[in-house]
Amino acid sequence: MGFVLDSLILELFLIVVSLIALLYYYLSRNEDYWKSRGVPFIQPTTFFGNLKDVVLMRTSEPEQLGRLYFQLAGHSFGGIFQSVTPVLLLRDPELIKTVLVKDFDHFHDRGIPLNEKRNPLGAHLITLEGSRWKTLRSKLTPAFTSGKLKNMFQFVVECARDMTVHLEEKVPDDGGQLEIKEIFAKYTTNVIGSCGFGLRLNSFEDPHSKFRRMGRQFFEPTYWKFLRRWIVMYVPVVQKLKISAFSHEMTSFFMGIVKEMIGYRESNCVTRSDFLQLLIELKNRGRVDEDLPFSNENVITPDGTVQDTNKRDHGLKLTDSLLTAQCFMFFMAGFETSSTTMSFCVYELAINPQVQDRLLREVDETLLKAKGEPTYQDISTMDYLDSVIKETLRKYPVVHTLMRVCTRPYTLPGTNLRLEAGTKMVVPLFGLHYDPRYHPDPYRFDPERFSGEGSRPVIPAYTYLPFGDGPRNCI
Ligand code: HEM
Repeated sequence: MGFVLDSLILELFLIVVSLIALLYYYLSRNEDYWKSRGVPFIQPTTFFGNLKDVVLMRTSEPEQLGRLYFQLAGHSFGGIFQSVTPVLLLRDPELIKTVLVKDFDHFHDRGIPLNEKRNPLGAHLITLEGSRWKTLRSKLTPAFTSGKLKNMFQFVVECARDMTVHLEEKVPDDGGQLEIKEIFAKYTTNVIGSCGFGLRLNSFEDPHSKFRRMGRQFFEPTYWKFLRRWIVMYVPVVQKLKISAFSHEMTSFFMGIVKEMIGYRESNCVTRSDFLQLLIELKNRGRVDEDLPFSNENVITPDGTVQDTNKRDHGLKLTDSLLTAQCFMFFMAGFETSSTTMSFCVYELAINPQVQDRLLREVDETLLKAKGEPTYQDISTMDYLDSVIKETLRKYPVVHTLMRVCTRPYTLPGTNLRLEAGTKMVVPLFGLHYDPRYHPDPYRFDPERFSGEGSRPVIPAYTYLPFGDGPRNCI
């Protein structure tokens, strides 16, 4: 009996040791990846890669990637590890241009894992790949022309008025405190609700509105949410488990609301100049009319050839589910980026009173000229405002990292380095935007960097990329 028990314990022990050894092998098998290719790299920690401090919440991901950028000083590129995944970090502006623009046909995807069946809301422009992305991008681009945005301006003004009323009520006479990030999040939620879905949300009066709740659910940083997304993103074996990125509540909310709105507009013949209308047009006619001189049907592809989009839909079916995913993307990509930028902007204005005074003068002059009713055109003539926003996005690039994946084998120009298909690449904007070679005194908030006034040097190309660049830039 004792002998049987002993051998059972031994077997169990051997199984556990083998499993640990296997796990260790899996987690550490790539650690020589960059070394064996002669690429300068930063020594990783097993499982965490170079992001240990991020996972342990000692720093944020943008700051850590910025640090890795500076640790690789003197090199055009270098190897890092995001968990077990080897990633090439790009530093040199010319190389960044090559990847984002010149040789885009090798780097048209971001490599974000997507399981469309489980996550129908995830199948949007940011994550889609290959020909489906290309087709959808060329179909959606005309929905974002300045002409289309101009038509939506009236809705933005309405929401701004609601915010002004709210602020006038809430700002305490004694100059107490307000949570400005939440106020801007409500404002941009209202803007997206109106421009995107034709809904007058007024999140100020109804702070528990479902849209605001969904936005909070998606973006509010909780550790487990972060860890789940991080593991799904960088530990390939976990992607096979098909973990859903969105709650069931979120999926059914968006699916339901978009279906309902489309149904209502179609059966009541209601039209409105918003994003939903453009999607309905896309669904029914297969395209959105361009209001610029070149036609939607002739799209210049990244390799420079002109193609007719309507003849090459590459099996892209504009189902209700795919259209809903684009609305979802519009909501998520639109409200958080804008409200975060606005929050950082007012923070900098508060601690830089001389910038605030100058901007206020420009605002007052514009309001005076426009007799209190500024138009889209009036806003676009505000040069100092433009520089202030550009400087905000330099110091706080809200989409902090550009991501690309090599889609077919590629030799990096001027090197012998042959990248395999599937190699991930990043451009950390918290490195590039704080590099004193391109942005002297980088921690100073200085909108005049962008004003082109006096003898200020021009910002070198591909060193300031808050909206990315190339055919896959921000739409
Ligand atoms: C301050 C505001 C915003 C910033 C800083 C920003 C920044 C970015 C960046 C850096 C990218 C990645 C570009 C690249 O990989 O080269 C991106 C992609 C994208 N953004 Fe924005 N964005 C903003 C607002 C918006 C808004 C309001 C929308 C509206 C829908 C939007 C829609 C998108 C889409 C659809 C993509 C993916 C494009 C594609 O892959 O084809 N963004 N954005």
